[in-house]
Formats: sequence, structure tokens, C-alpha cells
Amino acid sequence: MKWIKVKNKTEMACIAADILCAQVLLKPESVLGLATGSTPLCVYENMVKRYQEKKISFADSKTVNLDEYYGIQPSDEQSYRYYMDTNLFHHIDIPPENAHVMNGMAKDADEECRRFTGLIHALGGIDMQLLGIGHNGHIGFNEPDDHFTMDTYCVTLSESTRKANAIYFKNGLSDMPEKALTMGIRPIMQARRVLLIAGADKKDILQAAFNGPVTPQVPASILQLHRRLTVVSCEE
Ligand code: PGA
Repeated sequence: MKWIKVKNKTEMACIAADILCAQVLLKPESVLGLATGSTPLCVYENMVKRYQEKKISFADSKTVNLDEYYGIQPSDEQSYRYYMDTNLFHHIDIPPENAHVMNGMAKDADEECRRFTGLIHALGGIDMQLLGIGHNGHIGFNEPDDHFTMDTYCVTLSESTRKANAIYFKNGLSDMPEKALTMGIRPIMQARRVLLIAGADKKDILQAAFNGPVTPQVPASILQLHRRLTVVSCEE
């Protein structure tokens, strides 16, 4: 594990974008696993800037997103499809058919999870997975539990995650979906490289995840067992 501690979000975004762009420069047809939330926003901004400056092309890249709320339309401003389109995909040259997000409106959630698992296999697996970390240690929407869920699945969101994310919904908690589709631990651990980014507000949970025991009560702690993990965290 390589842990890079930087001063602030600006530095974090720059280093994370360097790492993701290096992956794409070295292997243009890379499969990138992408994440949402507030932390990756500045990383995507950096990637867009590099594309606009013609330093990189994503024309041959493929992406798969970690998770999506279940029961909201892709066109809904709170959906992760909308987030990815507006913060990254619409500003770079990735072909729309290469940018994959689970369908939060799928009638059969389990079937959608199986489809996504098959898709990741068909793409040859994930070359680099970008992750944030929740205050409760979740990665994707793998919430603290008494076991790790390996396969991609439909999860009931924890109260703390619903509260943390309710600020993004017009009517707060009442609008917030109760369920989400998330990559399970297996596809995340099978990614060839993992890049986890965290702001200064995540210091305590980073300590628990990487200096404590591997436990499903802190889902990110499983990453201690990943051979090619890079963490970029902010001091302030
Ligand atoms: P955040 O979320 O970047 O909005 O803090 C991270 C996460 O919950 O994975």
C-alpha cells in the first residue's frame, strides 16, 4: 500500500488525476472504475482540464461506475448517471457507449447486478478503481455489516449514509432513496489497481480502515489486502 498525504484538496485532485491519466496514457483502452460523491469532483475537473488542453484522450477508454441509487431515473439530477454525465463524460471524448453506470430503474435489481458483473468480465476486468470512503468506512455502498458482500448487489442504505447524502436531495431525507445498487467487494478487490481519495474530514475513518483490523464493520479495511492500493489523503 502506498499512502500519499498531501496538504489540501487541490493537491489531492492533481495527484489523483495524474495517476488516472497515467493509467490511460499507458493503456488507452483502460477500464476505469469510477466513483461519485463530493471528493472526486475536483479530480474530474482536473481530468477535463487535461483533456481540454489536449494532453489526454479517453476515446478508447471504458468506465464502469461503482454504484447507483435504486429507483431514480438516470435523468434525475441526483442520479449518479447524471452526476457522471455532467461532471465528466459530457466534457471528454469517451464514447457514450463506453461509459457504464448501473440502471437504477431496472425492474429486477438482481438481474441488473448480474448484468453489470457480466459486463465487467466482458470488458476484461477493471484496470484502476477510484474510490472515496464514507465516514462509516463504506466503499461504494458497501455498508458496515457483520460480513463482506462479495457480489454486486442491491443494498439497503444505512441511516448514516442516508443522512450524509440527504443534503443533495431537494426535500432531504424524504426524497432520498432507501436502496442502491453497488459493486460488491469482489469486483473492487479484483481491480488491478485501486486509488482511494479522502479529504481531511476522513482522517479518523482512514486510521480505522488502514491501521486497524480487517473487518466488515469498516468495509474499506479489506483494502489492506489489496496488492496495489494507493491512498491519497488531505491533511487540511
Ligand atoms: P464524499 O463521499 O466524497 O461525498 O465524502 C464519499 C463516499 O461516501 O464514498
